[in-house]
Amino acid sequence: MDADPAVFPYLDAVAALNGVSTTPWVQRFEKVRKKDLKQTDILFGGDICFWDELVKPVGTMIDRAIDAGVGTIVIGDPERPTFHQMAEKAIQRHGGELLNWRLTGSVKATGALLVIHND
Ligand SMILES: C[S@@+](CC[C@H](N)C(=O)[O-])C[C@H]1O[C@@H](n2cnc3c(N)ncnc32)[C@H](O)[C@@H]1O
Repeated sequence: MDADPAVFPYLDAVAALNGVSTTPWVQRFEKVRKKDLKQTDILFGGDICFWDELVKPVGTMIDRAIDAGVGTIVIGDPERPTFHQMAEKAIQRHGGELLNWRLTGSVKATGALLVIHND
């Protein structure tokens, strides 16, 4: 899911490399409702909380996922301050933890994962 339909060819390319299929959904975080998430087992987000304006919508989407019974929520980020603001509030409301991650191969990167278990 992404607000920008132009991202989906890239998603398709990554999916093909990984031998999986995807179903594109053009939507804004603000518009994701509890009913949209009823059949969802795991909600993953990658680098989706990078502006002040996204702290509230991403947090609300997590609240709705918890209400809908989504079992696990994982949001990864290169540790922008806005991600930490959102994650701190989400952990206060729902529990969960922040895990550090690091890539040490040819691509070097660090970041954090917000992980909330809801089962
Ligand atoms: C930094 S990119 C990350 C893209 C992808 N998740 C990844 O990890 O490669 C942030 C994405 O968030 C999308 N985005 C920004 N605001 C959004 C919103 N309110 N609702 C849905 N998507 C949004 C943008 O279109 C952009 O594709």
